[in-house]
Amino acid sequence: MDKLRLGINIDHVATVRNARGGDNPCPVRAAQMAKDAGADGITAHLREDRRHIKDHDIERLRHEIDLPLNLEMAMTEEMLTIALKARPHAVCIVPEKREEVTTEGGLDAVRYEKMLKPFVEKLQQNGSRVSLFIDANPEQIHAAQRIGARVIEIHTGRYCHLLGKARHDELALISESAMLGRALGLEIHAGHGLSYENVGPVAAIPEIVELNIGHFLIGEAIFTGLDEAIRAMRAAMDKARHA
Ligand code: PXP
Repeated sequence: MDKLRLGINIDHVATVRNARGGDNPCPVRAAQMAKDAGADGITAHLREDRRHIKDHDIERLRHEIDLPLNLEMAMTEEMLTIALKARPHAVCIVPEKREEVTTEGGLDAVRYEKMLKPFVEKLQQNGSRVSLFIDANPEQIHAAQRIGARVIEIHTGRYCHLLGKARHDELALISESAMLGRALGLEIHAGHGLSYENVGPVAAIPEIVELNIGHFLIGEAIFTGLDEAIRAMRAAMDKARHA
């Protein structure tokens, strides 16, 4: 089974910083701490409204942190220009609505296939590995493959919010989607809403090779510290993976 990588999303360190302005707490320091705790990558979402991560954070994460940077962004000309210049290791294309609290659903790769194809091509030719953040849906996965993305990140938000049989059914969809994506030659990632309580069954899906986790860990860090929170998440992932 492939190793399961852990990408730490440090957006909400910036959310707390921005609540008061100034420099503290610093998301770059959090990224360094994540590295020391064993993270395999850093994820940051540069939103149109810059509500958490700002342009200078991306610059610093790119140059000061010795871990692959996964830049989450919407499919806009502004973001394309920034990503082509910053050349992060990876770009994850997400849908973005200004009024949403967080990314509410996957990208509609079927609907935007024609626009996504050249967008993804430019980024990949520039050296960034592109993933599409999509729901666990076969039509979306086939579209991602036609578009030419090398990776899909499966949205686990619904799974995390559901309970009982509904959660079980959503997990089955995620697992089937991961199998389909892998059979189509895509690398499979997953993320959104993951916590100690719900990460196990997702981590156990053998086709998934990377999880991106943020909000829960930054919240947990208030109580235990970021280092311990990340190590505990890694342990939960590893335990499920090798069970
Ligand atoms: N993956 C993607 C594509 C996301 O947009 C987010 C949230 O920014 C995450 C993973 C992490 O989600 P959470 O903060 O709920 O762990």
